[in-house]
Amino acid sequence: MLRSAAVLFLTLTSFVAAWSTYVVPHSPGADDTPAFLAGVANHTSNTTILFSKGVTYNIFTPIVFPVLTNVEIAIEGNLTYPQDIPTIQGSTSSVSYVSDLFSFSGGTNVTLRGTLDPEWGWVDGHGQAWWDANNQVNRPHGWAFSKINGGVIRDMKLWKPIAWNFATSGSSNIHAFNNRIFALSNSKNSFPFNTDGFSASGLNMLFENNHIQNGDDCLTVGSGGKNIHFSLLRPLGEGGHGLSIGSLGKNGAVADVQNVLCVSSCVKNTLYGARFKSWTGGNGLARNVTWRDIFFTNVPFPIYVTQNYWDQGIGPRPNTSSTNNTHIQDFTFQNFVGTIEDVPYVEGSCVSNPCWYAVPGATGKEVIILDLYPGTATHVLAKRIFAVTETGARVAAMCNATAVIGDVGFKCQNGPFIPTLAGLL
Ligand SMILES: *[C@@H]1O[C@H](CO)[C@@H](O)[C@H](O)[C@H]1NC(C)=O
Ligand SMILES: *[C@@H]1O[C@H](CO)[C@@H](O)[C@H](O)[C@H]1NC(C)=O
Ligand SMILES: *[C@@H]1O[C@H](CO)[C@@H](O)[C@H](O)[C@H]1NC(C)=O
Ligand SMILES: *[C@@H]1O[C@H](CO)[C@@H](O)[C@H](O)[C@H]1NC(C)=O
Ligand SMILES: *[C@@H]1O[C@H](CO)[C@@H](O)[C@H](O)[C@H]1NC(C)=O
Ligand SMILES: *[C@@H]1O[C@H](CO)[C@@H](O)[C@H](O)[C@H]1NC(C)=O
Ligand SMILES: *[C@@H]1O[C@H](CO)[C@@H](O)[C@H](O)[C@H]1NC(C)=O
Ligand SMILES: *[C@@H]1O[C@H](CO)[C@@H](O)[C@H](O)[C@H]1NC(C)=O
Repeated sequence: MLRSAAVLFLTLTSFVAAWSTYVVPHSPGADDTPAFLAGVANHTSNTTILFSKGVTYNIFTPIVFPVLTNVEIAIEGNLTYPQDIPTIQGSTSSVSYVSDLFSFSGGTNVTLRGTLDPEWGWVDGHGQAWWDANNQVNRPHGWAFSKINGGVIRDMKLWKPIAWNFATSGSSNIHAFNNRIFALSNSKNSFPFNTDGFSASGLNMLFENNHIQNGDDCLTVGSGGKNIHFSLLRPLGEGGHGLSIGSLGKNGAVADVQNVLCVSSCVKNTLYGARFKSWTGGNGLARNVTWRDIFFTNVPFPIYVTQNYWDQGIGPRPNTSSTNNTHIQDFTFQNFVGTIEDVPYVEGSCVSNPCWYAVPGATGKEVIILDLYPGTATHVLAKRIFAVTETGARVAAMCNATAVIGDVGFKCQNGPFIPTLAGLL
């Protein structure tokens, strides 16, 4: 009897020990980060870390999660950043670099989730004040979901972040879905600069059904990105800078990007649709990248590839004596349907003359621009590209035949967009 009671007791305690819930404490008016960090140290595995519904947590200083194993972080309450700019600048510059408000130190099987409740589960960055002041000093990033093997980011809801949202560098086997990023300004005179949606540079990632309204790349794949699959399906990307690879090869860096597939996405009022950018003088390779089934509305640069990237807002194209360049190989743009505005569009991020995104010689009606470096781009193909301007006028292309190898699916010229047979098949 005694023995079986002891066995039962042991069974129960081991059952209890198997999964715990850490309810994050809250002190009204105070920064909740220190108490969170003190408590989470004992809850790094087989745990649900719960930010409770009904509570608005003050995340006034950055959270660095310890290494986590089998952990679910459930954001069911609201989280708020400090509302004033200097407080954030002070707390982020006191760490060694302008950091992330939330960063992960690695781990296995980590789920970061919000809720479907429209009232709760928001992370409020109070970014509007930063955008209004055009303050770009010591801006923190949002969520560095780094060095996680086996991770889920779902149902997260970010409201007016200060700048960058999610990054997944060094992680692998990640599924990010049903996330909501709202980074649209309430004023035409203040732009939500650098509010990138997902910065992906890890291995085996699936991004789907995320709804992103922002002022920079919806998705950007950086060097190291391999097997990245992105689809938006019905929720769309709005206001931002499209589905991007790069920029790669800055200051001679060696890039490595492989097997990227962006499918079934709608982009609306974005500056770019599909975009690739690498800097002159870079090294390395981006290969096997496909954008397919992309629907666009009012997008000035539906397809834009440049191996000569630089920021026109800062000055003239940098001179380089390097004969190296980031190579591109097997790039496919397939099934693009949409419209371009008739009047060249001035996007809110254009605060210099010329705009950082100006393309010398462009008419504003180019459905595709291939700005390639001679001898370094192979198998680039655009097929079944259907676009008109809003009033039904013909669209154009920019393409330098001396830099292009083979049939790119349209007549390679600066002029009307005329598909070749390969571009229609
Ligand atoms: C963490 O666990 C240790 C050992 O079990 C215990 O001594 C300590 O009080 C716990 N700390 C917190 C904050 O719960
Ligand atoms: C976590 O749970 C798994 C079983 O799901 C178990 O094997 C492991 O030992 C647990 N880890 C800790 C630290 O309790
Ligand atoms: C992974 O974490 C989830 C909770 O997010 C848990 O239900 C599951 O059991 C964990 N998987 C393993 C293999 O421990
Ligand atoms: C949670 O935060 C969001 C975004 O700031 C806000 O719209 C919502 O009203 C908040 N919920 C509550 C219950 O205060
Ligand atoms: C050019 O590429 C070669 C081969 O990858 C490399 O050894 C060299 O350092 C590169 N030069 C520059 C200026 O990047
Ligand atoms: C190209 O990428 C796609 C999608 O990521 C993948 O399914 C395919 O196997 C890759 N092909 C090669 C030759 O690597
Ligand atoms: C590049 O070189 C040209 C000719 O030497 C010069 O006029 C131009 O200012 C240089 N540009 C930069 C960015 O250094
Ligand atoms: C095409 O590329 C060649 C080689 O880089 C360059 O000399 C020429 O100016 C380019 N032409 C146009 C129209 O961009």
